[in-house]
Amino acid sequence: MNELERLLITRRSCRAYKPDAIPDDVLDRIIEAGKYAPTGRNRQAPIIIAVTNREMRDRMSKLNAAVMGVDSDPFYGAPVVLVVLAKKEVPTYIYDGSLVMGNLMNAAHSEGVASCWIHRAREVFASEEGKEILKSLGIEGEYEGIGNCILGYPVSDEAPTPAPRKEDYVYYIK
Ligand SMILES: Cc1cc2nc3c(=O)[nH]c(=O)nc-3n(C[C@H](O)[C@H](O)[C@H](O)COP(=O)(O)O)c2cc1C
Repeated sequence: MNELERLLITRRSCRAYKPDAIPDDVLDRIIEAGKYAPTGRNRQAPIIIAVTNREMRDRMSKLNAAVMGVDSDPFYGAPVVLVVLAKKEVPTYIYDGSLVMGNLMNAAHSEGVASCWIHRAREVFASEEGKEILKSLGIEGEYEGIGNCILGYPVSDEAPTPAPRKEDYVYYIK
């Protein structure tokens, strides 16, 4: 198994983070890897909002929790949130955005940074407050939230054991 394959197989979702910040150069490399995900017809439908600002991170956490009707932190204490949205007019936008999410999580793992996809970005950025945030960043057009890639350093260094892969995952035609 080569190093990339090992990383793809050993990445796990982390659900308890230390508050420690991620160095800028590390975060930049993770984001860069996200930007190079393939996109349908290379239209690059996704955008990434990189949130390291504590106030905005907490605001987005609250908006996300409100979608579920809870007041816990759906970001599990992670200090960084990379929100991936994608332009709805592009037919492949959900696939494109999902691949960006995958690149971000795998690149994070390669940098020793823990991650998890946190859902409900769609609902958050369809809300008035979510739209207001986009507007304040000068983002125009119809964007749909694809996912929140939370990042940080794990509370525990112990990597969770992955669930076994189902028996009928692959059908071979040889
Ligand atoms: C589309 C999608 C949405 C997810 N939403 C959440 C979420 O809202 N909260 C959460 O804790 N994990 C979420 N996850 C993480 C999955 O639960 C996790 O990937 C799965 O249990 C497999 O575990 P692993 O990532 O450690 O392999 C999501 C994953 C995907 C792909």
